[in-house]
Amino acid sequence: GAPVEVDISTLKPGEKVTVEWRGKPVWIMRRTPEQLASLQKIEGQLADPKSERTAYPTPEYAKNQYRSIKPELFVAVGICSHLGCSPSDKLQPGPQPSLPDDWQGGFLCPCHGSTFDVAGRVFANKPAPDNLEVPPHMYLSDSRLLIG
Ligand code: FES
Repeated sequence: GAPVEVDISTLKPGEKVTVEWRGKPVWIMRRTPEQLASLQKIEGQLADPKSERTAYPTPEYAKNQYRSIKPELFVAVGICSHLGCSPSDKLQPGPQPSLPDDWQGGFLCPCHGSTFDVAGRVFANKPAPDNLEVPPHMYLSDSRLLIG
């Protein structure tokens, strides 16, 4: 499939858009400073905090604490690594149905309850075996993102 170019100039902190790439939903999210700070707090609860597993290899440029090229901008394939459902946004921190009381914001797969943080990292002891896939991508400028 062809690469997809996306204008990210109007994406505000806390907002997420979904574009289609190779028939898959790709999320682009501009994370807030609070969301970036939350990534540190939950490392101990994650199955693969440093994205070292190889089923969906994380590109080298996203193998960092944010799983992204630019800390605030998160790009991921919105498909659960368990059986392929699309996780829902649960970006509001705090207790909610099906989520732990100390929830810091992230995503919940409606099919079998896997949970992911705002870097798409899966929590331990969930059906999903891997973090969400980070697709190949690059920035053409401050406002243009190329996926694929
Ligand atoms: Fe997501 Fe099963 S498909 S938890």
